[in-house]
Amino acid sequence: MESLFQGKSVSLSYIMDDVRVEAIKQLDFEIETGKFTCLAGASGSGKSSLLNLLGFIEPLQQGQIKYRGQLISEFSEIELNRIRRFEIGFVFQSFFLIDVLTAEENVEYFLARQEVPEEKRKLLVRSALEWVGLADHAHKRPGQMSGGQRQRVAIARALAKQPKVILADEPTANLDSKTGSDILQLLVRLCREHGCTVIMASHDHQAINMADRVLRLRDGQLLGEK
Ligand SMILES: Nc1ncnc2c1ncn2[C@@H]1O[C@H](COP(=O)(O)OP(=O)(O)O)[C@@H](O)[C@H]1O
Ligand SMILES: [Mg+2]
Repeated sequence: MESLFQGKSVSLSYIMDDVRVEAIKQLDFEIETGKFTCLAGASGSGKSSLLNLLGFIEPLQQGQIKYRGQLISEFSEIELNRIRRFEIGFVFQSFFLIDVLTAEENVEYFLARQEVPEEKRKLLVRSALEWVGLADHAHKRPGQMSGGQRQRVAIARALAKQPKVILADEPTANLDSKTGSDILQLLVRLCREHGCTVIMASHDHQAINMADRVLRLRDGQLLGEK
């Protein structure tokens, strides 16, 4: 099986008030292409830190990470930006939608910044919103939608860029369990139908049950698999 990410002795620490917090400690990991991987672990175990490393949001401090077989330390800043913008879709716990824009405009906003031509943009936006079941809500603003619908917009926004990877950080944490379960199903379908690799941080047991693979973290270390 091809691996999308491979990590070797990866460590990450933060300095806060002159104190060093080790969030990730000497981690070795492999994340397979096309699979749904869940990073599980209690709050503070390092899930977000690892996702941020994989999304090139957090710079690599120690160790090695390969993305599609290539060391990320060998990518230029421009290449890393391109991968982050075009190949990785992000979904967050608090949605991060723009309040003054409609669902459609939220999905389109990012594509417009990527200079996707207007005709193609409209098509991508429409099919992403249809795919998440929000075709009839395209003109609503986030404030007029439920939490589950907002998260669907965020998933449509990630999907519209036709990414290779979706990084989802506790995407169900602000939702009730039924809505959370619908969102998880959607992420599973995204993986199966669009061939996206989904990497999700969650301590939701439903998420853990649905995942192809579960990597359990504790205090920045891997405890092993499901
Ligand atoms: N920006 C930051 N500055 C300082 N410490 C941080 C920062 N982000 C995370 N941490 C610390 O790193 C550890 C891992 O956090 P995090 O990766 O957010 O875990 P999780 O997502 O599993 O809750 C925790 O001890 C947390 O307090
Ligand atoms: Mg977190």
